[in-house]
Amino acid sequence: MQQKEQPSSNVTDIEIQLITRINIKNERHMLITGCAILPNEHLLFANYNRRRNILEYSKEGNYISSIQVYAEPYDITVLDSERIAITYGYNGFFEILNYCNNSVEKKIETGSHCWGLSQSNGKIYIQLDKVECFDTTCKKLFTMAVAGDFHISASKTNLFCSNSLNNNVYCYDMHGQEVWKFRDDSLQSPLGVTHDRSGNVFVVGRKSRKLILIQHDGKTYKNLLNLKNYSAPVAVCYNKDKHNLLYCDKKGDYCALYKVLNT
Ligand SMILES: *[C@@H]1O[C@H](CO)[C@@H](O)[C@H](O)[C@H]1NC(C)=O
Ligand SMILES: *[C@@H]1O[C@H](CO)[C@@H](O)[C@H](O)[C@H]1NC(C)=O
Ligand SMILES: *[C@@H]1O[C@H](CO)[C@@H](O)[C@H](O)[C@H]1NC(C)=O
Repeated sequence: MQQKEQPSSNVTDIEIQLITRINIKNERHMLITGCAILPNEHLLFANYNRRRNILEYSKEGNYISSIQVYAEPYDITVLDSERIAITYGYNGFFEILNYCNNSVEKKIETGSHCWGLSQSNGKIYIQLDKVECFDTTCKKLFTMAVAGDFHISASKTNLFCSNSLNNNVYCYDMHGQEVWKFRDDSLQSPLGVTHDRSGNVFVVGRKSRKLILIQHDGKTYKNLLNLKNYSAPVAVCYNKDKHNLLYCDKKGDYCALYKVLNT
């Protein structure tokens, strides 16, 4: 008798349905590199350019505000109902921001470029030269030597990384052991990466201009969106409670919130 451990995690059954398109404020030289869905369902976009702001929209896609920060923000992750963590790319630091009163609680210089980050289970994982793990007081806990370069996504048990140069997506356990590696011609120059509760991995390809969903075992995938008509796909994030997926391309040409079905 064969028993299925994860009955609902076959990616062929998973579909996405558009909730709303977000018409990003049309500023010059937009460079959206990261996004986040807040617990109140507001949508945040890191604009990695000289304006140094994080754009906030309602779940209906309406502009709310521009959160001014002190350097170019690269990526964002939610810590709790008041706080987010933000990386600052080549500026070489990350910080914890209370977004209710816009006050910086901690700023940590990392000594190297500070790219994608992801919070899971009270731990903050950050892609520096290696992936470093901090607790929410910013105490460094451990380092993982992984083969990704910019974007990561952490669950309780796994760390997912994309490598934009060799086109691989990796799944590691928390000891840094590779669990699987995915590579397919449908995914060129992977950047933003996020995952659902079953460990299925959403990833966008900057050159392939697609959003795909890799099955939790790394063995198969499903094409979810073709994005050929817009600027390069970069950012994607998933809200596990609402089953919502937020996507945005580099220039903010096409940014949209989707409902993920059958996950
Ligand atoms: C996944 O679902 C599809 C269609 O429902 C089915 O054809 C396929 O065999 C399933 N794959 C696995 C590994 O269960
Ligand atoms: C912002 O709010 C937090 C938590 O409510 C509080 O600890 C902090 O002192 C506040 N900061 C400022 C500058 O008001
Ligand atoms: C992309 O653009 C082409 C030419 O303008 C148009 O025919 C096509 O329908 C567009 N595709 C999508 C998915 O919007």
